[in-house]
Amino acid sequence: MRPSRVTNPSESQVVGVAIPSAGSGLRMGGRRKAFLTLSGRPLLAHSLRPFLDHSKVTSVVVALAPADAENPPAWLRDLDVRVRLVAGGKSRRDSVCAAIEALASTVTWVLVHDAARPLVTRAIIDRCIGRLGESEGIVAGWPVGDTLKEVGEGRTVLATPDRSRLWAAQTPQGFPKDRLTSAYRRAVAEGFEGTDDAEVYCRFGGTARIVEGSPWNLKVTHPEDLVVAEYLSGHSQVQEGRR
Ligand code: CTP
Ligand code: MG
Repeated sequence: MRPSRVTNPSESQVVGVAIPSAGSGLRMGGRRKAFLTLSGRPLLAHSLRPFLDHSKVTSVVVALAPADAENPPAWLRDLDVRVRLVAGGKSRRDSVCAAIEALASTVTWVLVHDAARPLVTRAIIDRCIGRLGESEGIVAGWPVGDTLKEVGEGRTVLATPDRSRLWAAQTPQGFPKDRLTSAYRRAVAEGFEGTDDAEVYCRFGGTARIVEGSPWNLKVTHPEDLVVAEYLSGHSQVQEGRR
C-alpha cells in the first residue's frame, strides 16, 4: 500500500457501514448471535439502529450466514432502503470482504462494526466519524483495566506486558474504502486472516489510531455477556450515549 494521503473528509464524507454478522456463535453454544434477543429485539437490530439514525451513513451492508441471506427475516428485509444483505463467508475476514465489496460505489469511508456489539452508541459513532481523515484508520478502543499475562505451555506465565500501552480493540473501526478494500483483497490472496480490520489494514502498510470507544461497548461472545448486555441496555447512561 502506498503511503497515506489523508484528507479532511468532513465535506465530502460519504460513509458506508459494513456489519459482519455471519458468525456461528460457537462460544455462545452454537447460536447465531445476530438473532438472539436483547431487550425484546434482535441483537443485530440494536447494532444497526444508531448507524441508520446517522445522516452521514448512506449505505449499510450486513453479511449474514448464507441461509439467512437467502431467506432473511421480514424485519431485516424491510428495515431501511440503505441496507443490503449479502452472504458472509467462513471467516470474519471473508464476511467483511463480502460486505465492503457490496457497499454503494459512492462510499468513500467505511466503518466496520460487529453485529455482536449491540451497545454501540451515537456518541461512539460520532467520535469515530469525526476522526476519520485525521489519520488513515481509526479503531474504537478502551484502556485495559486488568494486568495481562502472556501465557505459554502448561499455563506458565511468560511475560507481563506494560498495561499502560494496552487498549482493548472494539468496533467501529473506520478506514478509507479504497485502501481497506485493497488490504482485504490482499489478505484473501495471501491467506492472512487477521483478528480485526485494523490488523488487516496495518499488515498491508496502513496505519491506525485509537479513538475512545466505551467501557459499555461490549462484544457479546459468551452467554454471560448477554446477561450483562441485557442489564446495560436498560441503563440510561448507556442508552443516552454519554460514553
Ligand atoms: N463474523 C462473520 N463471519 C464469520 C465469523 C464472524 O461475519 N465467518 C462476525 C460475527 O457475526 C460477529 C463478528 O464477526 O458479529 C465478531 O465475531 P465473533 O464475536 O467471534 O462471533 P462468532 O464468530 O459468531 O462467534 P464464535 O467465534 O464464538 O464462533
Ligand atoms: Mg468468531
